[in-house]
Parts: sequence; structure tokens; C-alpha cells
Amino acid sequence: MEAELTVNNRPRVGFLFALVCTTFSLSMFMMSMNTFMYEGDVPFDGDEVLDYEEFRGLGGPIELDHHKHSDVNEDVAKELSKKVRVLCWIMTAPKNLDKKATAVKKTWGKRCNKVIFFSSVTNDSFPTVGLKVSEGREHLTGKTIQAFKYCYQHYRNQFDWFLKADDDTYIIVENLRYFLSHHSPNSLVFFGHKFTPLIKQGYFSGGAGYVLSRASLEKFMVDGGANPFICRQDGGAEDAEIGRCMMKLGITAGESLDVFGKETFHPFVPIAHLEGHHPDWFYKYSAHKPRKGLGCCSDYSISFHYMSPSDMYLMDYLLYHLKPYGLVPQPGKVEHFKSDT
Ligand SMILES: *[C@@H]1O[C@H](CO)[C@@H](O)[C@H](O)[C@H]1NC(C)=O
Repeated sequence: MEAELTVNNRPRVGFLFALVCTTFSLSMFMMSMNTFMYEGDVPFDGDEVLDYEEFRGLGGPIELDHHKHSDVNEDVAKELSKKVRVLCWIMTAPKNLDKKATAVKKTWGKRCNKVIFFSSVTNDSFPTVGLKVSEGREHLTGKTIQAFKYCYQHYRNQFDWFLKADDDTYIIVENLRYFLSHHSPNSLVFFGHKFTPLIKQGYFSGGAGYVLSRASLEKFMVDGGANPFICRQDGGAEDAEIGRCMMKLGITAGESLDVFGKETFHPFVPIAHLEGHHPDWFYKYSAHKPRKGLGCCSDYSISFHYMSPSDMYLMDYLLYHLKPYGLVPQPGKVEHFKSDT
């Protein structure tokens, strides 16, 4: 009997020991998982969604010294930058210099053949050119005409195209040149994201940026810039007023879709277009029905708007630094734009 008990008890003790061990290690595991999951107050679901804005843009300007020590072949882009010379001018304000205008200067601005920042105050150290018009939304039309006038007076013979952008517009300058290389700077045309309701031939969203050919700038300044009967000199909505003025001058609002019918100039941030998350007015105003998903945006897109300084530094990193190894684009293999000739 004793022997039997001993024999029978041994496995029971072993089972209990194993059970205690398992429970102990399981609870240790759960505890460690708990620590792992909640450390840093980052919830994975529920109402407490991480407020990304709180963690963005606090580091100030980032130095992205692009292309140095990199394995990117820039020959095609460099060649194009000699043939398609783009002057970019940016509408900014004194209070925006430190963050917004600085982000433009440190990212896409430096890729233009020339970049000029216009403000209401001249600042020789940034530098900005002060325009003699009041600050504020209601004076954007006046500021825009003055800025184009400055470009015309100082640079009309040195550049082929003249781009207007805001300090929260991000331009992929290489793609702008690629698109423009299909058009002549001598034709009376300008390009951007087309809106239709107010002006028959359409006009271009101010925030997505728009670009005038050298011939258009000349016509604009010689025949309309100072003539209040053709171009409203101030007030109104800047983009619509410039569009109306261009139409009266016989300057065509050109098309900038790629050969797949995808937009290139975008009035919102990339994710808004991808997710198709837009205000209602956007669907009513856009000349081409906005699409969501990859149909939204050309692979050779030119501009995005409402880009925060952080968005700009991130975009620069994604476009000019981060690369999936082994995927090498081949310029010219697929033609993405049609020529107007
Ligand atoms: C001029 O620009 C610099 C930045 O480059 C800024 O630090 C300075 O405050 C600006 N000056 C004025 C008067 O706004």
C-alpha cells in the first residue's frame, strides 16, 4: 500500500509543481506584456488616440543635406534644370519666417533656379523682399500682382517659368520641370490645379501653386498688371482674380493631368487626396472629378498644399533620402506627359 501511495503521489506532486510554475511564468509574462504595451502612454486602441500634432514640429529646422555621399544619378534632373529654368516666388509674412518660410528655404525652395520670398517687410538677413501693400488675406491680390511685377522687372529674361507658391505649399521641383518641358515658355499659358465655377476657362488654386510662362508674365505685366479695367488691382479672392485677369488677356488655363488622367497640382496634403477626405466645396470646384486612392495623384505629382514645416522636412526625407533598395526608376521609360505641340 505504502509503495503504491508513493508511486501514485509522485506524479501528483509533479503535476502541482508544473501547474504552479506555469501559472507563475504566465503571470510574469502577462505583467511584462502589460509593461511592454503601455510603457510610454501609447495606447493601441480606444479613445485615447495619440495626438500626433503634439509630437511634431518641435525640433525646429532639420538639416537635410541631400544627395551628398548618395548613390543617386542626378544627370537627367540636372540637364533639365538648365533647359527649364524656374523662378519660384513664395508669399510669406513676417510672422511666418522662422518656421514656415524657413522650412521652404531648407527643403524645396533651394531646388528652384531662383527663389524669392515676398513679405510686407524687407528682411535682408532671411532675405525677404517687402512689398508696399498691407498684410492680410484681403490684400493677397495686390501682393500677388506686385510680386509678379518685381519678377518681371528684375528677372524676365533669365527664367522660362514663374511659379507662385505659399509658405505652406510643397513643390517637387524636378517634376515641375519635367511637366513644363512639354510646353513652350513662349506660349500664352499658365498651369495649376484647375477650379471652374467662377471663371469660364477655369482658374488655379492659389495654395496648390500656379506657374506662368515667360510670355504670359510679359502679357500680364504689359497689358493687365496696372490696368484696373482688365485686372482687379487688390481685394477679392487672389486665385480667382488672377484667373479672371488671365482670361481677359487671352492667357490659356492649361491642363496639367498626366497621361493617365491623374492630377499633378494638389490643393491638400497627400493623405487627404489618397483617402479622398475633402471638404464638399472641393468636389464642386475642381474641374476634374477628384479621385481617391492611387487615382488621386500622379506618380510625378508637382505640388501639395497645407504642408506644415514638419510635413516638408518629412517629404524631403521620403523623396530625397529614403529608398527601397533595388528599385531604380528609369527616367523616360514611360512618358508621363503629352507635349502641346
Ligand atoms: C529677419 O529674419 C531673421 C531670420 O532669417 C529673423 O531672425 C529676424 O527676426 C527677422 N527680422 C525681422 C525684423 O523680422
